Amino acid sequence: MKPAIATPLSTLDTIFLRRSVRSFEPRPIDEETIRALLDAAVRAPTAMHLEPWSFVIVQNAEALHRYSESAKAVWATAGSTDEALHMPRMGRGFGARTADPAFSIFHHAGTLIVICAKGVGPLVEADCWLAAENLMLAAGALGLGTCCIGSALPVLNSPAVKAELHIPADIRAVAPIVVGVPAGPAAETTRKDPDILCWKK
Ligand SMILES: Cc1cc2nc3c(=O)[nH]c(=O)nc-3n(C[C@H](O)[C@H](O)[C@H](O)COP(=O)(O)O)c2cc1C
Repeated sequence: MKPAIATPLSTLDTIFLRRSVRSFEPRPIDEETIRALLDAAVRAPTAMHLEPWSFVIVQNAEALHRYSESAKAVWATAGSTDEALHMPRMGRGFGARTADPAFSIFHHAGTLIVICAKGVGPLVEADCWLAAENLMLAAGALGLGTCCIGSALPVLNSPAVKAELHIPADIRAVAPIVVGVPAGPAAETTRKDPDILCWKK
């Protein structure tokens, strides 16, 4: 289903206006909107047309709080073992924030959408991340804010949480994304110029 957009943004506007949003209004996201985001996600290109994704939606505040507290405990002790967890570096300051009882790794968003990968293969996770970007751009076009929460992955892929979220053993969480109504404008970020290694003509 193509979502109805009241004030359409151009594709380039949507790309260039996207920010990671880390402050949300308490307003919930309704089911129709979430389904529209999922429909946009699955329009991503997919290697060999495998469509190797499935989705988990968490809108339960108690569960989100519990997963956040578990993740904070993981990261409080992870430190130099980030690499061992195959995680991107969380950046300076993340360790300290895990000690703050008010800090939620989900930034107090009411909705978490987890894109999960089915099966194995060199391009399965690539497909899931393409779906993730589609979902985030669609959310932006609808005036919603998103943020990838890579720091949730160890907890979401723990056997206990997978069982709670009905994620089968052969499916794994790849791209956790929080979604919500932004509480205000998100901080602008910069990018380095594209590093072109070769432009062979
Ligand atoms: C794979 C991945 C994992 C990320 N994990 C987190 C995270 O755990 N917590 C968080 O607040 N932001 C997370 N981010 C968001 C990045 O910090 C953010 O994209 C980056 O700082 C650039 O900012 P921008 O998205 O606003 O341009 C993640 C982004 C990606 C792509």
